[in-house]
Amino acid sequence: MTVSFEYAGATVEIVEAGTILAAARVNPVELLRRATFPPPVRRVELTVSSADTPAGPVHVFAAEIGTTAADLPHKERIRAVVLGNDPVGTLLARRIAAGDPIATRIVDGVGTVAVAAYRKLGLDRPGDPAAEPQTAVLADAAAGLQAAVTHESGGGLVRLRAEVPRDEVRPEHLTAMVRLLLQAVAELLPPSAEPLAGRRYVVTRENLPTVATTTREVTLDQVGGLADVVAQLRQIAVSFRHPEAMARWGARRPQGILMYGPPGTGKTMLSRALANEIGADFREIRTPEILDKWLGGSERNIKQIFRDARRYRVPTLLLFDEFDSIISYAGAGGDAASQAINAVAGIFKQEMNDLIEANPAVIVVATTNFPHRVDDSLIRSGRFDVKISVPKPDETGRAEIFRKMIAQLAAAHEEPGFTMFAGDLDLGELGRLSHGMTGADIKEALRRVQLAKAMQDARTGGVVDPIGQRDLTSSIRDLLGQR
Ligand SMILES: Nc1ncnc2c1ncn2[C@@H]1O[C@H](COP(=O)(O)OP(=O)(O)O)[C@@H](O)[C@H]1O
Ligand SMILES: [Mg+2]
Repeated sequence: MTVSFEYAGATVEIVEAGTILAAARVNPVELLRRATFPPPVRRVELTVSSADTPAGPVHVFAAEIGTTAADLPHKERIRAVVLGNDPVGTLLARRIAAGDPIATRIVDGVGTVAVAAYRKLGLDRPGDPAAEPQTAVLADAAAGLQAAVTHESGGGLVRLRAEVPRDEVRPEHLTAMVRLLLQAVAELLPPSAEPLAGRRYVVTRENLPTVATTTREVTLDQVGGLADVVAQLRQIAVSFRHPEAMARWGARRPQGILMYGPPGTGKTMLSRALANEIGADFREIRTPEILDKWLGGSERNIKQIFRDARRYRVPTLLLFDEFDSIISYAGAGGDAASQAINAVAGIFKQEMNDLIEANPAVIVVATTNFPHRVDDSLIRSGRFDVKISVPKPDETGRAEIFRKMIAQLAAAHEEPGFTMFAGDLDLGELGRLSHGMTGADIKEALRRVQLAKAMQDARTGGVVDPIGQRDLTSSIRDLLGQR
């Protein structure tokens, strides 16, 4: 089950809170590690674990917010020097002084930190400094959760910690903890009505050893043999994740990416992996499906896609896969069908312009196996400002693809007592023999060996050798022989 809510402009989703809590009894569960936040917040970690206390076993919710003191605005730095290096106290003080309603609301739940903040502003008679508590409390009344907030003086590290007796812990406690954490984060950010606007945080166990993570959650690390392309996509992801840096320098991040290359070289995979790297939602539009046999149908379809896209509130990667089928020279003749295709291409160009103006949360990727078919004017219009060639892998690339796929399969399927691959595979030889094959072909070669082994296993009742060099080389030869 997924619980979602909005906080400070961000959409937050908590996936399977009950499972997270159950898993935390056995091993600490780390959450939000890949989430990104505006500066000065550099990173956030939330860990749910289990501990034994004199009062009995508890669930511990512990969070760390790493900040860069150097990124605090100039005035804040001076204030921090004057008031002590206390990110929570300093920023709260500033916001209370400004009459900020959120800060005032926090004050009601916070108690001590507010008292300290008031003191710093001279709004209250300073008491005995030695008695001034170092720990603040953030509380969520609804769930009955209290988190102690501490900070390392001198460093930019803020910590939150809450404990709930194991017998009483409920999913609402996790939700409350995430809220309090975001509340603390929001307090550290420059003042704004929605300091986390447009962001999306998914609180989920990231290390689940399920097949889903290996197939759906494709990452750039899984891509073999395309080091330059991967490096370029990582750069694009950084620019997307840091709109504030782009704005500061008046720079524009890439908005449209065209990937082209032979079938099976990983273009669709790279698009998914890029969405993952950005932390964006992924929406795939299979362009053959846009084409409608009815007059005007394709135009309506494409307009609808863009109308939806203008409304996405969370970062979204929109993929037009096998894009050439709509924006194609193939229809450059004078017949009715070609004219229809040209009309669609025209609408596409117009919509693409509008979308990028209207919704900076969207990045568009288009892929094609036939770059020469894609209408030049679409590229020249400047909307696809990055063009990436995705070639077939060379020998080293193929060996790397074998290595990564084999490692992934072993990680997904091997368990105590079951070895999937022999230990002495010669990847160099596999790379050499598979001349002309793409990543998709290599996957197919492996798939055939897996199937053969599984069938043998089914017939013999489990007496099967692990996949060895001979199995792989003969699968490669078979596949190449069929060409
Ligand atoms: N360079 C690569 N590294 C790792 N796997 C690859 C690579 N290229 C292709 N694959 C595998 O082949 C599958 C099909 O590739 P795909 O992305 O659909 O290719 P394309 O979109 O270029 O036709 C991918 O899901 C992936 O498993
Ligand atoms: Mg594809």
